[in-house]
Amino acid sequence: MKTFTNPHVAIVGATGAVGTTMLSILEERDFPIASLRLLASSRSAGNTVETTWGSIVIEDLATADPAGIDIALFSAGGARSKQYAPKFADAGVAVIDNSSAFRMDDDVPLVVAGVNGSAITSHQGIIANPNCTTMALLMAAGPLHDAAGLKSMIATSYQSVSGSGKTGMDELERQMKFFSKDIPALASGDWEDPGGDLYQRPIAFNVLPLAGSITDKAYTDEEWKLVNETRKILDRQDIAVEPTCVRVPVMVGHGIAASMWFDDPVSADAATEILASTPGVQVWDDTKVPTPLDSAGIDDVLVGRVRETIGFPGGISLFASGDNLRKGAALNAIELAELLLER
Ligand code: A2P
Repeated sequence: MKTFTNPHVAIVGATGAVGTTMLSILEERDFPIASLRLLASSRSAGNTVETTWGSIVIEDLATADPAGIDIALFSAGGARSKQYAPKFADAGVAVIDNSSAFRMDDDVPLVVAGVNGSAITSHQGIIANPNCTTMALLMAAGPLHDAAGLKSMIATSYQSVSGSGKTGMDELERQMKFFSKDIPALASGDWEDPGGDLYQRPIAFNVLPLAGSITDKAYTDEEWKLVNETRKILDRQDIAVEPTCVRVPVMVGHGIAASMWFDDPVSADAATEILASTPGVQVWDDTKVPTPLDSAGIDDVLVGRVRETIGFPGGISLFASGDNLRKGAALNAIELAELLLER
């Protein structure tokens, strides 16, 4: 694997919810950058962004030449990744792709830093950043799998609107303001539809039991990501995963309630001890339950409600909450870029 001491870096999708978070995390972590390029659509091209590395003019991805870039962090949607990431990789760029475009490709490692970081060494140009929900869940499930062998898992997500990008955040804010004009109507059923074309039903003051779009067997693409990405990251194809993905009116932070069963029995105390000693994880006890509001803006994934299962004994139930823009996307991408640095 090619490593770098002071790489030339590009952010593709630099104006989006994840792209702007990538820029602030590069700045916060003092990432050793020789030069930074910011790319987005023609709508943003020509605008200037002030950064630690000076004023940078946004370039149009469609016409940008990847020559000279060492590492490109892609977060401009799957269609852009499919179209441009191979072109960048062919030009010798190490592409860290936040979309789902290449995650299940055999020659593309799917890597959670801190869980299966060593998988990155097999990359052939493109490295995939996992789905934000899978990422938060695996920060808890990964270390428990290492200790006891994960066999099966029932997982229900509570996903924030920023998982749908900036448009999701704008939609929630607009609908919140609209509904706030007549709160009693929300209890009596006399509410007016605030309109919106991002979700099937209003997201403000509501819960949508379908995140993503229906694909195979009446499960959504988000649910299939939890199944397939968990198996690939933990390198065990026979893990049984039963997923339900739900969208909730939260700006940032995905929560996941999960029950897991292992090859070897694990007590709640042992699971808590393993999680408490995992870098990037904070265990919160029942006086301070982990919530998306608490995990928004921080790097660590918060885990709590760790308990032994009662309905199907022998397993562990817990709740994990992580910032989907940070560890769920931008932070992990930058941690992967750090794995490409010369040590
Ligand atoms: P732009 O702001 O110029 O549209 P989000 O996920 O928050 O919606 O952000 C999507 C990111 O992907 C933005 O930076 C957006 O740039 C970028 N993007 C969207 N469409 C294109 C495109 N056709 N070419 C390049 N970048 C795109």
